[in-house]
Amino acid sequence: MAEIVIVRDKAEAGALVADEIAGLIRADPEAVLGLATGSTPLPVYEALRPRLQGVDVSRVRGFALDEYVGIDPAHPESYRSVITREVVEPLGLDPSRIRTPDGSPEGIEHHGDEYEAAIVEAGGIDLQILGIGTDGHIGFNEPGSSFASITRVKTLTEQTRRDNARFFDSIEDVPMHCITQGLGTILRARHLVLLAFGEGKAAAVAGAVEGPVTASLPGSAIQLHPHATVVVDEAAASHLTRAGYYRYAYANKPDWQGL
Ligand code: F6R
Repeated sequence: MAEIVIVRDKAEAGALVADEIAGLIRADPEAVLGLATGSTPLPVYEALRPRLQGVDVSRVRGFALDEYVGIDPAHPESYRSVITREVVEPLGLDPSRIRTPDGSPEGIEHHGDEYEAAIVEAGGIDLQILGIGTDGHIGFNEPGSSFASITRVKTLTEQTRRDNARFFDSIEDVPMHCITQGLGTILRARHLVLLAFGEGKAAAVAGAVEGPVTASLPGSAIQLHPHATVVVDEAAASHLTRAGYYRYAYANKPDWQGL
């Protein structure tokens, strides 16, 4: 079962996860991070900044979860731009070591395989940061995605396009297709850290953590992972039936275990 950590707010979640990532990079300057975009991971990236002062990050590698297909990479909401703006620049990472899936339509049928090969070549992802969609997606693996899937093109659901319209002028501007790491890709990362904040995520979190393992709720794939941590605020935890146990287990966690 995933470890569930219920925190007061985004700042506490950010600090907790940033401590873990900074520790990972100090222990292994060639650490490979799996990077999520969207609103959820921002407190983590913010909290990482002071923690990485004076730490050698020149060899850290990173792989974004996904990218929109057909978006101009220079568009401010392309995930390439978001990762550059929110992660690479503020943390001083080497841009040549941080990749996003290639969403250019030309040769798109090969871009997934190329991305998978690059992840393997880097030695695999050490820690994968995840958000979750209101429809239960992780990465852009929409409901019905195979648990064995690898990086490939997917069609975004209307719900996801509506949710992401806030980053664009209108829903019509949200691309229809994306290229995303698969659930199989995500499950190969050595540590999964899924974050969620707010009441709007409560049903998806409860389904992912306590519901049946089903492709109908792709986030439930984390139940198959030997080292998954779910960090949620009170509102996102509000549909969990075993919240009392999660708090009790976390309060009594042996120090040596880490996150
Ligand atoms: C982002 C990603 C998505 C988001 C999810 C939640 O790279 O893969 O799964 O994590 O859509 O988005 P936010 O965080 O904006 O609520």
